Amino acid sequence: MNPADTTTDPRPGTSDPAAALAARRVRVEPYGMELGPLAHLAEERRRLASLTWNEFDVRQWGATLGAEITGIDLTADLPDPVIADIRRALLEYKIVFFRDQPLTSAAHVAFARRFGELEIHPFITGNPEHPELVRFEKGADVAGYENGWHHDVTWREVPSMGAILHAISVPETGGDTLFSDMAAAYDGLSDEMKARVEGLTAVHDFLLAFRGQVPEGAEEETRAAYPPARHPVIRTHPETGRRIIFVNRFFTSHIEGVDPDESVELIGYLSSRAETVEYQFRLHWEPHTVAFWDNRTVQHYAANDYWPDVRVMERASIVGDRPV
Ligand code: SIN
Repeated sequence: MNPADTTTDPRPGTSDPAAALAARRVRVEPYGMELGPLAHLAEERRRLASLTWNEFDVRQWGATLGAEITGIDLTADLPDPVIADIRRALLEYKIVFFRDQPLTSAAHVAFARRFGELEIHPFITGNPEHPELVRFEKGADVAGYENGWHHDVTWREVPSMGAILHAISVPETGGDTLFSDMAAAYDGLSDEMKARVEGLTAVHDFLLAFRGQVPEGAEEETRAAYPPARHPVIRTHPETGRRIIFVNRFFTSHIEGVDPDESVELIGYLSSRAETVEYQFRLHWEPHTVAFWDNRTVQHYAANDYWPDVRVMERASIVGDRPV
């Protein structure tokens, strides 16, 4: 046999090695790599695929999150049933997006207000005429630092329900935003870990990310306005009833009543569940793409692979509810 002739190699394997595994996860040493299906996603994926919509068309992109809505014009004054269905789609798909929506800033604010009162962010620059819009204007001189997994504003006593992000100017390549389903992540925890974190409370503090934004001399009044916020480590979604991992490495300082090293370890572990690719949906922006995410359920990550190119986005955040 010619050693270079791979077509005549003896073939001891007679079937796919996965055939013996019966859809189990396997851990491969020495790296602790875990392979195989995340079988707990199947039910939710199928359920979402079976949904029907009256007011628009929906294409589901991710397994348990991420859907594109077509057939509506966000610049128009949309009838209440359409708004109600967008809200329902948001709850189901956790992040929905719309292409080709050339919203003015005023129209962006008006659309976002249909879903509730809007926040004004105290630490990130807003649109000069519409303070309800946070403006992310990135380029060579102002780089993006949103490339870490986080829920928005968990340092607030009442973190936002959702956020609506409009792409005004996007780089030719890169600059995607990734979303991760923290309800699916909770469902994927081991029973031991679920028991370990049940009933724990985490403290969230704006100082972790925004200490540098507090003007000298304003430390005390800023602290008084935004005291550390206490939220359950695992929150329950007020509308869907799903349990959700609700800590993140941007804003969660510690878990109460837990040894500091263990607190760091737990927050690190729980937050890192967002990195599981199967829990994610990745959105590639085009000019005038608009995304609406449920900030209670998903964490997000703005990939910074486009520097020094320009990327301009505006975000409206809708006031939420106190996590329980
Ligand atoms: C953010 O809300 O963290 C920014 C998202 C983005 O710019 O894609």
